Amino acid sequence: MDTQPAPFVPPAPKPRTSPPSTLEMIRIVYRNPLELWGEPTYNEPWISAKGAGGPLVIANDPALIRHVLVDNAKNYKMATVRQKILRPILRDGLLTAEGEVWKRSRKAMAPVFTPRHIFGFAQPMLRRTLEFVTRYEAGGTSDIAHDMTLLTYDILAETLFSGEIAGEPGSFANEIDRLFETMGRVDPLDLLRAPDWLPRLTRIRGRKTMAYFRKIVTDTVKMREEKFRRDPDAVPQDFLTLLLKAEGPDGLTRPEVEDNIITFIGAGHETTARALGWTLYCLAESPWERDHVEQEIDQVLAREADPTKWLDAMPLTRAAFDEALRLYPPAPSINREPIEPEMWKDLYIPKHAAVLVMPWVVHRHRKLWDRPDAFLPERFHPGNREKIDRFQYLPFGAGPRVCIGASFAMQEAIIALAILLSRFRFDTTAETKPWPVQKLTTQPQGGLPMRITPRRH
Ligand code: HEM
Repeated sequence: MDTQPAPFVPPAPKPRTSPPSTLEMIRIVYRNPLELWGEPTYNEPWISAKGAGGPLVIANDPALIRHVLVDNAKNYKMATVRQKILRPILRDGLLTAEGEVWKRSRKAMAPVFTPRHIFGFAQPMLRRTLEFVTRYEAGGTSDIAHDMTLLTYDILAETLFSGEIAGEPGSFANEIDRLFETMGRVDPLDLLRAPDWLPRLTRIRGRKTMAYFRKIVTDTVKMREEKFRRDPDAVPQDFLTLLLKAEGPDGLTRPEVEDNIITFIGAGHETTARALGWTLYCLAESPWERDHVEQEIDQVLAREADPTKWLDAMPLTRAAFDEALRLYPPAPSINREPIEPEMWKDLYIPKHAAVLVMPWVVHRHRKLWDRPDAFLPERFHPGNREKIDRFQYLPFGAGPRVCIGASFAMQEAIIALAILLSRFRFDTTAETKPWPVQKLTTQPQGGLPMRITPRRH
């Protein structure tokens, strides 16, 4: 009989019962900000407090989130701390651009992400995944967290450049990891709003890597441009060609094309990898759910060869992915700062307050979800998902700055899961003890070592 067993409750820090001291707080922020939040944060509609770096507002009420991200979005800019970390790397890429530059760039890039272009990426995604999984054919144990970053990197490199990258083969992939490892970190000095002339140790090491990395991107764009000039029909329809087409007086400038290539890598590679890793992990710990997902995938693959159709044809697989995005949102915090102070209901939001919309917290909020810490994909099954408020589930953000790559990521995830789960069974081992840690993304500390066995059909 197919009775549903008790759901899996995956690892997460318990809400704190007392606030940390300032020193302890700095340590936690540096090590793992997910461990900062206490009971009130997971229970109240909002928190207004005085943090070490100034006023702090935590927004949990979906109506307040809607106010900040949509209704009064024009009063909110990107948080200073986030900009200090990311702007040196991403410059005027879409994620870090503001004001007129952002408006012009978002408009210029909308055509890059139309369904027609996203569907056009389905075959390269499938091809890369099929090549990738050959490494699992002999079975064995592997760190899935690491593997998924390789897979999403392969897919992004293919859809960005179609493999036409300047420089030494392989060097680009290594440099990306090094770049975000050294540069993309929260520096405690930023959090305390220390003046800019104080050197940030976390960032100094990254500068040389960044110069090298930028040069590869510049050379790659030049290479493509020459090819375009020689034979416009021969260039592949990848992100680079689409971005070059978005160049122009009302569109992107050349430096912005380069900034956006780096932005796509920064925003689109590790995020999707984390989501895939956590999904495979949660499914491995929920064999009952996994059986249903595997069955669905097997049935769809047997009748539908076109990967652009899989997302709609696999509601259970999608629900498992959505539920993993709820429990482990790859972007755990969306941070804003009001330009002018304002009142929302009886909440005063002071100028320069750090306004935190934290998917990590909102997705586990005690008043918004039933059994918030349990892995229950059925929340997202057709008929149930419609009951979830748009502003209580925000893995891709919301409003004008909602993730531009969301449908790319969803298509990629379903194609990857379909191929991985139709061919292999992923099981946890005694060594699989991940702990969620907030770096730039929600990473599994300790990795995700898993046993992989080919499935026999
Ligand atoms: C599961 C995968 C992904 C997740 C969870 C994710 C999450 C997010 C979130 C939460 C935001 C909003 C940030 C904010 O409002 O401050 C965002 C923005 C953005 N994302 Fe994604 N993302 C993913 C995949 C991708 C991919 C694949 C790409 C590109 C190919 C991408 C490119 C971007 C860009 C350019 C922005 C900035 C948009 C703007 O400010 O106008 N993302 N993403």
